Amino acid sequence: MRTFDRRDILAGIAAAPLLTAGAGLLPGSAVFAQAGYNTRPLVPAGEVPLVGMGTARNYENPQTEEDYAPLRATIQRMADLGGRVIDTAPSYGRAEEVMGRLMAETGTRDSFYLASKVGASNAEEGRAQLERSFELLQTDFIDLMAVHNLRDLDNQLALLRDAKAAGRIGAVGITTSFKPQYDEFAAVMEREELDCIQVDYALDNRSAADRILPLAAERGMAVMINLPFGRGRLFSATEGMDLPDWAREIGAETWAQVFLKYIISHPARPIAIPGTDKPHYVDDNLGAARGTLPDAALRTRMEQFIDSL
Ligand SMILES: NC(=O)c1ccc[n+]([C@@H]2O[C@H](COP(=O)([O-])OP(=O)(O)OC[C@H]3O[C@@H](n4cnc5c(N)ncnc54)[C@H](OP(=O)(O)O)[C@@H]3O)[C@@H](O)[C@H]2O)c1
Repeated sequence: MRTFDRRDILAGIAAAPLLTAGAGLLPGSAVFAQAGYNTRPLVPAGEVPLVGMGTARNYENPQTEEDYAPLRATIQRMADLGGRVIDTAPSYGRAEEVMGRLMAETGTRDSFYLASKVGASNAEEGRAQLERSFELLQTDFIDLMAVHNLRDLDNQLALLRDAKAAGRIGAVGITTSFKPQYDEFAAVMEREELDCIQVDYALDNRSAADRILPLAAERGMAVMINLPFGRGRLFSATEGMDLPDWAREIGAETWAQVFLKYIISHPARPIAIPGTDKPHYVDDNLGAARGTLPDAALRTRMEQFIDSL
């Protein structure tokens, strides 16, 4: 089982002198130790930046080198900038296969905290799907596996817990991305021991903050946030608008950074996983994990702003 000890040591001890010497080939975590990201602990990796990335839709079916090139550059940029968390799933078309290929081509598997999911209707199907995930991702260790949208929950949780006990995965979680499932989701959080939950949350979609996010904090569960831009809805709402003056108070230089800083400043300290398929999005999105985050008063102002549009 990968423990990340080597990289933690590198990050903590060796990074500064190497970086000072201008070395360009440091492991990602060494760079992030230098880059001043806001981080949170994630089982089993330790501290990770509060912004990662997701692979739904844009990684589902590249065909030509023209399709692959920006995705490869994106993954390389994530590693270069010390990005850690990458979320994928068997239900995202060929995304697991594509991620496996891109990590192999760029030699970046060890740079990432790899999160995938199981979405199956019975134990046997779940087992086969999990084996296929290892194969497609070209790895013998997946950092986090979650039961996708609570599907066939009991069987799949048992499968994932066995895999964790065997040291093949590092953490077990559950995901959802729609409000009608929140009551059931919260009930599972109350009765099960989970390392991490994933839920939808965005400046204009704040229902998860009513119960799910406080419950995660109370139960000591890490949180990942899917749909942080509402699949682009927030960009449409603010299209053509200048950033408000208060964006400067938190060092946000783009709308993406405004939206992400709102999410990661929630007291549950969630990790946002925006869908990221271009290298310049990596710079933009990971940039949001650096520097000042909004306090409670500014968070309220941000909510009032978006509600007024
Ligand atoms: N139930 C579940 O488990 C579940 C459900 C949904 C999603 N997820 C996970 O959550 C991830 C995020 O969700 P999502 O990708 O659907 O939606 P999203 O993150 O809300 O939006 C992604 C879109 O935002 C745009 N974008 C990203 N960075 C940007 C930037 N810096 N500036 C401007 N535009 C930017 C891109 O659009 P363009 O490419 O058009 O430029 C991208 O496709 C998924 O990839 C997936 O891993 C999980």
